[in-house]
Amino acid sequence: MTESNCSNTEGGVVADIAQHVSYFERHIFFCLNERKNGEACCAQHAALDGFERCKSQVKAAGLAGPGKVRVNKSGCLDRCAAGPVAVVYPEAVWYSFVDNQDIDEIVESHLKNGRVVERLLIPGDSGR
Ligand code: FES
Repeated sequence: MTESNCSNTEGGVVADIAQHVSYFERHIFFCLNERKNGEACCAQHAALDGFERCKSQVKAAGLAGPGKVRVNKSGCLDRCAAGPVAVVYPEAVWYSFVDNQDIDEIVESHLKNGRVVERLLIPGDSGR
C-alpha cells in the first residue's frame, strides 16, 4: 500500500467502500439448489415457493430497492440438512421455513424491522 492509499484509507476510501457495502440495507439469499441424484436439496422442500413469496411480500411492503432489501436466488449454501434455507445479511442469520406464514414473518420482523425470528433459526451446526 502506498502512502497516498494509507491517507485515503483514513479519509476517502473507507467512506467510499461503506457507500458500496450499504447499497442494500439487507440481502436475503434463498438456496434453490436442485440435485438430480436424489441427495437432499432445498428444491425438494418448496424453496422456490418461499423465494417467490418473499419477493412479492418485500415488493408489496415497499421494501425493495436500493437502501432497502434485495431478495436473491442462490445455489447450494452448504447447509442442506436444514433445508430449505435462507440467509439474511449483513447479520448472517440463517432461517428455515415451511410455509407462507414463515416467510411473511421473516419479511415483517427481520427484513422490515430488524428483529430476528428466533423460532425459524436453524441449528448452528447444521451443515450439508
Ligand atoms: S441444497 Fe440448499 S443449502 Fe445445500
